[in-house]
Amino acid sequence: MSALFEPITLREVTVPNRVWMAPMCQYSAEPEGPLAGAPHDWHFAHYAARAAGGTGLILVEATAVAPEGRISPYDLGLWNDTQMEAFQRITRFLTAQGTVPGIQLGHGGRKASTDRPWKGGAPVGPDAHGWQPFAPSAVAFDERHPVPTELTTDQITEIVGRFAAAARRALAAGFEVVEIHGAHGYLINEFLSPHSNRRTDAYGGSYENRTRFALEVVDAVREVWPADKPVFFRVSATEWLQEGGWTPDDTVRFAHDLHAHGVDLLDVSTGGNAVGVSIPTGPGYQVPFAARVKAETPLTVGAVGLITEAGQARKILANGEADVVLLGRELLRNPSWARHAARELGGEVRVPDQYHRSV
Ligand SMILES: Cc1cc2nc3c(=O)[nH]c(=O)nc-3n(C[C@H](O)[C@H](O)[C@H](O)COP(=O)(O)O)c2cc1C
Repeated sequence: MSALFEPITLREVTVPNRVWMAPMCQYSAEPEGPLAGAPHDWHFAHYAARAAGGTGLILVEATAVAPEGRISPYDLGLWNDTQMEAFQRITRFLTAQGTVPGIQLGHGGRKASTDRPWKGGAPVGPDAHGWQPFAPSAVAFDERHPVPTELTTDQITEIVGRFAAAARRALAAGFEVVEIHGAHGYLINEFLSPHSNRRTDAYGGSYENRTRFALEVVDAVREVWPADKPVFFRVSATEWLQEGGWTPDDTVRFAHDLHAHGVDLLDVSTGGNAVGVSIPTGPGYQVPFAARVKAETPLTVGAVGLITEAGQARKILANGEADVVLLGRELLRNPSWARHAARELGGEVRVPDQYHRSV
């Protein structure tokens, strides 16, 4: 039987299989008012379907630790108790289905305050529920985005505290896993990369200084997150820049640091912080980056990116390139992908009693 359908235990949390759902923003929350950032019927139905479909672990989409950390005004948030309580309905259902509920916590940095992708995704200002974004340095992402405001050290410290507060609320909401979003050109990634971080203080310059903010966030989250539950980190293993960017070598070095700071799993993605780069997308195109972290560090590793076929996923695990696979768009197409894969490969995933006649 494929390892895809074998459980995996991280700290004291056992996940029934290794077919996991990648975090995917739904851009569907209220942008303002008392229910701003709170999940509602859409989010419940969306995550519930993937749980009923046998997904081992679901990472709920990038959820902002502060209002100005939302990628779009329609993002989920965990900066207040109304949001926390609204998440409980989702975690209760996922847990009842045997799916481990996880959540990705993030801050959009200089790429915050954009419109929904299906409306074009352009930066929006106060007339469309937007705001002026913040970043490590006053360097715009591209010519379409505004020049962000450089964060002061006090503001950096405040955001670290916001991550801890959101993690505390994630626990109260019933999540078993938190993932820190350090990828795709959002705030943490912006600090890591010399391409976006031009600071000359303790948070910029050397590798140690550029990783300082990320490790402060990890420490703050680890401090409030129970020792028996795992913390994940999503990284962009390369920016696909020829020079002047974060590299796969940096990722391996950083993975060792993350491990030393109590991170359990590295979710290995790429890109998102630099425009005009050429990315060789194709089936499993990011897997080699995961495989390198797996080979060279003690971390548990997740592979993601154009993993769509059962045989392909089986092979990634069989080759020892990763410990788990995360699926994004394919799970949007087929919420029961894990069940189909189990059927194809001769494995088993839990099927809800109500669906027993479909087995
Ligand atoms: C609609 C959509 C929303 C996404 N939102 C997030 C997100 O919230 N956080 C994140 O780290 N990645 C996000 N991603 C990236 C996915 O997690 C995943 O890494 C990417 O889609 C590649 O995997 P796939 O080829 O299986 O879709 C998003 C992707 C899509 C398609």
